[in-house]
Amino acid sequence: MSKILLVGCGKMGSALLAGWLEQGIAREDMMVVEPSAVGVLLGIPAVHGDHEIPDSFIPDVVVLAVKPQVMAEVLPPYGRFGDATFLSIAAGKTVAFLKGHLGQGCAVVRAMPNTPAQVGRGVSVCVGRVDAARAELCRSLLAAVGEVEWIADEAQMDAVTALSGSGPAYVFLLAEAMAQAGVRAGLPEDLATRLARATIAGSGELLARSRETAAQLRANVTSPGGTTAAALAVLMDNQAGFPGLMARAVQAAAARSRELAG
Ligand SMILES: NC(=O)c1ccc[n+]([C@@H]2O[C@H](COP(=O)([O-])OP(=O)(O)OC[C@H]3O[C@@H](n4cnc5c(N)ncnc54)[C@H](OP(=O)(O)O)[C@@H]3O)[C@@H](O)[C@H]2O)c1
Repeated sequence: MSKILLVGCGKMGSALLAGWLEQGIAREDMMVVEPSAVGVLLGIPAVHGDHEIPDSFIPDVVVLAVKPQVMAEVLPPYGRFGDATFLSIAAGKTVAFLKGHLGQGCAVVRAMPNTPAQVGRGVSVCVGRVDAARAELCRSLLAAVGEVEWIADEAQMDAVTALSGSGPAYVFLLAEAMAQAGVRAGLPEDLATRLARATIAGSGELLARSRETAAQLRANVTSPGGTTAAALAVLMDNQAGFPGLMARAVQAAAARSRELAG
């Protein structure tokens, strides 16, 4: 069994850890580095810093899940695990940046997960030139918290970040906006909030389980001349409608991702 060293056990790191435990990975095959840890975390050995990792623990994979801002400072000591595969989930930190701080010879994969990983329903996109065994190791670790895609062109990572990385926030905003619209249409706030939440969650589940496209599922709810058609005429307006608005939002996020990249 591969030995996993997890560096950073915040929101994303702990979601991954929970997924690995669920997959049946043995606690003794894992170690966590986390400044606030106290000896064990979910029954897994945990240390405060890299200098406390026992010599007997030689990781096959080092999962880097600290904030992007601290990456440059955190990475260098981990270069000593030069035979391991390094899997970074830090937003915006390129493979070149990671190798620059770990060592040019290191095998590095960069991934962008998203927060539904917390309920095992995330999607992660990976990039990095590593051999098939290392790629499979990274894929299986991320598959513990959802779907995994692989891209060949790292330049696409800005668009990935803008679509699936930031995307959950767009859906939560939709739930907020629908609830507010329900209140304006005359519903009590608590009922509108519950209806919006259940509608988003149920529609997401239907989309996940159905073989039909999103466009077909939309068409299935829409009778000619009916209520849904009246709403979609507003939402799909060529000038001010939702598709154009979403395109501008995703472009803004991708542009910001390019600015932040290092
Ligand atoms: N959250 C998202 O939606 C999302 C999506 C995709 C990718 N990501 C990426 O996932 C990474 C983690 O994000 P997050 O939301 O999980 O952040 P987070 O909750 O702040 O987790 C980061 C953890 O790293 C710890 N840490 C700080 N310095 C450390 C060190 N030297 N060694 C080991 N651990 C250290 C932090 O501890 P302290 O709090 O004590 O400093 C914290 O517990 C980021 O790089 C982010 O870009 C996040």
